[in-house]
Amino acid sequence: MARMRTVYNCSDCGAAHYKWAGKCDSCGAWNSLVEDVEDPAESVTLAAGMALVPPGTPQPLSTLSSATGKPTPTTIGELDRVLDGGLVPGSVTLLGGEPGIGKSTLLLQLLAAWPKKSLYVTAEESAQQVRLRAERLHALRDDVWLLSEASLTNIVAAIDSVAPTLIVIDSIQAVADPTLGSAPGSVVQVRGCAYRLVQEAKSRNIPVILVGHVTKEGGLAGPRVLEHVVDTVLSFEGDRHHALRLLRAVKHRFGSTSELGLFEMTETGLAGVPDASQMFLADRRPGTPGSIVVPTLEGQRPLLVEVQALTNPVSSGVPPRRSAQGLDPGRLAMLLAVLERRARLSLSSTRCTPLSSVV
Ligand SMILES: Nc1ncnc2c1ncn2[C@@H]1O[C@H](COP(=O)(O)OP(=O)(O)O)[C@@H](O)[C@H]1O
Ligand SMILES: [Mg+2]
Ligand SMILES: [Zn+2]
Repeated sequence: MARMRTVYNCSDCGAAHYKWAGKCDSCGAWNSLVEDVEDPAESVTLAAGMALVPPGTPQPLSTLSSATGKPTPTTIGELDRVLDGGLVPGSVTLLGGEPGIGKSTLLLQLLAAWPKKSLYVTAEESAQQVRLRAERLHALRDDVWLLSEASLTNIVAAIDSVAPTLIVIDSIQAVADPTLGSAPGSVVQVRGCAYRLVQEAKSRNIPVILVGHVTKEGGLAGPRVLEHVVDTVLSFEGDRHHALRLLRAVKHRFGSTSELGLFEMTETGLAGVPDASQMFLADRRPGTPGSIVVPTLEGQRPLLVEVQALTNPVSSGVPPRRSAQGLDPGRLAMLLAVLERRARLSLSSTRCTPLSSVV
């Protein structure tokens, strides 16, 4: 057996370094290098994978059935929109997002809506906590099986005995493989456990969903470490002080990544928002200066959003400044420059040109 060497893995992108440094060479993140043992994942799982998966048999392409690769709808409309139809059997999806954004909520609702037997593995919350959440979400169903466990070996044994048709692992950072000599949450553990769960998904031909916490800095390996290991990466975002939640596909091997899913966090869980324009414009006061409604396209869905602008004279000696929220400031500067030069709209002084005088 090879001697374990100390390496420093970037908890942001997973790159290995043989010397500690304050900044990752690979992704540029600061203070993201964490001491770890050398990643045995690739060689170990390759060997294990060869034993698990029967040898491939060549066959004519035309005789293969196309039905097996078809997505199964989750019946959660906004999730199916982002997944381009649903969950593909044998696929592995990573759901990333900050703590408290609603990942466990969404997945518990998904399992309750799934028509067949499913398994929810909670590696960081107790079974009672999950049960309480399920009660609040009206998600108690006999077909949803629960396992409170953090050891990968025991999780795989439970998958064998339950034989679910969908598995959720909440979260991948809390799961550890006791055979890997590395701390839970480290790059080596997170990647090694994910490799193993990918093999379980492929050999059983069932979808597996991994939850990954997005961490601003430090200790836990972030979802980016797993991006190339999984088929699909979903990102769940939103503002803690607002009920709106956005779901996007960052990577999707089975469809487009352009669709946006919209949810609202309510007391009984996440509710899809099919008519988002109405929600965005609900508190708009028509007739207010500096406010317009702009149609935009997010994937296949048109959205009406309000854009607000405000100008104010600067006091003498202070250089004028433009700032933007929710818009790329560089793009804003370019559009304003084009309007000034080509449409001769004077936008750099507070004296504005009447629109009728623009040629
Ligand atoms: N009783 C409640 N009523 C309404 N919303 C709740 C309630 N309890 C929790 N939540 C919402 O659920 C969120 C936690 O969701 P959770 O699925 O546990 O997030 P994550 O798994 O991403 O950490 C809280 O931030 C809050 O918005
Ligand atoms: Mg959670
Ligand atoms: Zn990095």
